[in-house]
Amino acid sequence: MADAKKLFIKTYGCQMNVYDSERMAETLWAQGYVHTDTADDADMILLNTCHIREKAAEKIYSELGKFKGLKAANPNLKIGVAGCVAQAEGAEIIRRQPLVDLVVGPQSYHKLPQMEASVQSGKRALDTDFPEEDKFDHLAKRPKAKRGPTAFLTVQEGCDKFCAFCVVPYTRGAEVSRPADRVFSEAVDLVERGVREITLLGQNVNAYHGHPGGLAGLIWQLSEILDLERIRFTTSHPNDMDDALIEAHGTCDKLMPYLHLPVQSGSDRILKAMNRKHTRDSYFNLVDRIRKARPDLLLSGDFIVGFPGETDQDFSDTLDLVRHVGYGQAYSFKYSARPGTPAAEKDSVDPAVASARLQELQALLTEQQYAAQAAMVGREVKVLFEKKGRREGQLIGKSEYLHAVHAVAPDHMVGKVVRVRIINDMTNSLTGELVV
Ligand code: SAH
Ligand code: SF4
Ligand code: F3S
Repeated sequence: MADAKKLFIKTYGCQMNVYDSERMAETLWAQGYVHTDTADDADMILLNTCHIREKAAEKIYSELGKFKGLKAANPNLKIGVAGCVAQAEGAEIIRRQPLVDLVVGPQSYHKLPQMEASVQSGKRALDTDFPEEDKFDHLAKRPKAKRGPTAFLTVQEGCDKFCAFCVVPYTRGAEVSRPADRVFSEAVDLVERGVREITLLGQNVNAYHGHPGGLAGLIWQLSEILDLERIRFTTSHPNDMDDALIEAHGTCDKLMPYLHLPVQSGSDRILKAMNRKHTRDSYFNLVDRIRKARPDLLLSGDFIVGFPGETDQDFSDTLDLVRHVGYGQAYSFKYSARPGTPAAEKDSVDPAVASARLQELQALLTEQQYAAQAAMVGREVKVLFEKKGRREGQLIGKSEYLHAVHAVAPDHMVGKVVRVRIINDMTNSLTGELVV
């Protein structure tokens, strides 16, 4: 029998791409592929791409260029581009890089088996449709193999918000929610395979409407799965944080006290130009209500600096918002004009000014992150151990607050939630000792 064909997938962008890559791999394993960790010996290379900023998108072309030698050495090698660049650029990708055999957009992954057969017969395959059917109904069933203690699960995809800077509504399409019973059975399946923590994913996950009780309803339903110990969700839009979800943060033990709640800017003028449909005050009010429900909740956020028209005053409003809210962790980006979005038509801020603002904002956010980590020292947290640490005898896992925590612990504690006292804070993680 011939050796099984080897599949190498490289993932860029957000957690949804991580989830999609897993599902694409499972689909192709069902076609007889096996996994490989390197492009060098692959028979199929799939890049699962991100279009959110120019740098992310352009990186794909330089990456593809590097495969020229591999293709010369193995004429049977097939190269595919999936994800949001595939959706946004379609056939243009093959025009710019003729090495590419296959281009598949995020809503067409269930077509991969036919597309794979087509490229094996020497043809090119391209699919960037937004079909009516739910791709998840047609993807291969997840295999029963054991897996690590944490998993992502996509429950909602697409976005109808049309923030003026963002490509997601174009690359992922309109907002669609998966029915709660399907999500539930996928979650049960994951838990049977060893998963103890599930992060529910959606571009606007709190706009989820596949359960009559919204995202909170889904969370309560999933919390009934006995061996599922932790539930998280990401990413939320401030305007979709309803009362039931806020309340769940106070009353649902399995829902972790961590919330990624991007605000993008602290200036009302810029928020309006961004079409965010909320103000800085409405965000402050929301944060107050959430913290009332769950005082120890750790907040995370996303910020864009240098949006067209952003003045020094607008930027200082953003710094002020950050000081006022206090983030445990956050991401910040320099605005990148994306083709086809309304903001791309506007005059951009001087790149040197934008860079200086980014540096200043990042310094403040890093300071807050370190302060939040330092505040953990001496506290007892619960850690879900995920794997062996780098040091002999150590395990690494995450606290309720999503801090990475190392502790000396026996291997059988992988997959268990264990009480740990934090004894030290380092740059990107904490160390602790088991509480016995
Ligand atoms: N759906 C999520 C985030 C999607 S993209 C939400 O609404 O919050 C992740 C982050 O990338 C955004 O929150 C934003 O901060 C950033 N981003 C999106 N488009 C961008 C652009 N054109 N330039 C710079 N950053 C951008
Ligand atoms: Fe993009 Fe805005 Fe939708 Fe988030 S809410 S995905 S930033 S358009
Ligand atoms: Fe990027 Fe698409 Fe995610 S543009 S951030 S991979 S939704």
